Amino acid sequence: MSSPEPILQKADFGDIYVQPDPRAYFATLSGYDYQIPQEGAEVFRRLLAACASPDHVPTILDVCCSYGIVSTLLKTGLDMSDVYAHYARPEVVAMTTEDLQRADAAFLEAHRRQQDLRVIGLDIAESAVDYAVATGSLDVGFVEDLEREDPSPGLAEVMAEVDLITTTGGIGYVTERTFQRLVDVAGPSTQVAAFCLRTYDYGPIAHALAAKGLVTETFTRTFRQRRFVDAHEQSWAVDRVRSLGLDPAGKEADGCYHADFFLSRPAEEIAARPLATLLATLPEL
Ligand SMILES: C[S@@+](CC[C@H](N)C(=O)[O-])C[C@H]1O[C@@H](n2cnc3c(N)ncnc32)[C@H](O)[C@@H]1O
Repeated sequence: MSSPEPILQKADFGDIYVQPDPRAYFATLSGYDYQIPQEGAEVFRRLLAACASPDHVPTILDVCCSYGIVSTLLKTGLDMSDVYAHYARPEVVAMTTEDLQRADAAFLEAHRRQQDLRVIGLDIAESAVDYAVATGSLDVGFVEDLEREDPSPGLAEVMAEVDLITTTGGIGYVTERTFQRLVDVAGPSTQVAAFCLRTYDYGPIAHALAAKGLVTETFTRTFRQRRFVDAHEQSWAVDRVRSLGLDPAGKEADGCYHADFFLSRPAEEIAARPLATLLATLPEL
């Protein structure tokens, strides 16, 4: 009897998104060199610097925020390798979730660098959002599924204060439906900064944002997200990027997911601050 054909699709990490604390998340993803939150933080930090002023605390809404990893990186001097090392320490592995929450709040506070940044998180995973708020990684968290329904009155209210909507590792889970609902309640100058795996088409999101007057640009280089879990996942990804008219050579063909970065802004912002200038100091791939 022949063995069944393998199912070609993106690996499903659903279980690790809904644990009471982030240990399984980091233990699992470190095995695949998951690094897109770090790439995101490097880019978002540069965009925030451009909108900083003494009398304005920048506010981010991080879509698919999970345990607040991007927020933690932005607010501290930590990088992904520090975070992976922290959660791999034997005493951290052995803690109860309650003790870990207290330890993480102290860890974050000890490394806090940027005081003048407010991060609001949005995710469907209640345990992850609760954890991130409890440790102080997120200032506020919302557990809502904007793929299915409009923002709650509370989320709609805070959206008026958001300068930048961000996402890493989220597109595919969320689509133009979520972004449409967010920009419908956001202020006119809110920008959208999104990392999107090359296996997904950002076109429908860019199209929805254009209807609100936001012009989308993409950056010249791509960003590594993580290694594939196996040859089946790689084969799926290579086929997907080809079907979207992209060349996998040197990227997916070499064993890693790559994401493009998209920034959607009012046209006058683009003229005033070109994307290439904003991100000029980013290291090469
Ligand atoms: C791959 S994780 C990315 C987490 C984090 N942004 C990062 O870069 O590591 C995907 C996240 O999307 C969340 N998610 C899935 N569907 C969602 C939805 N409809 N709305 C908001 N978040 C969603 C999951 O709960 C999970 O936390």
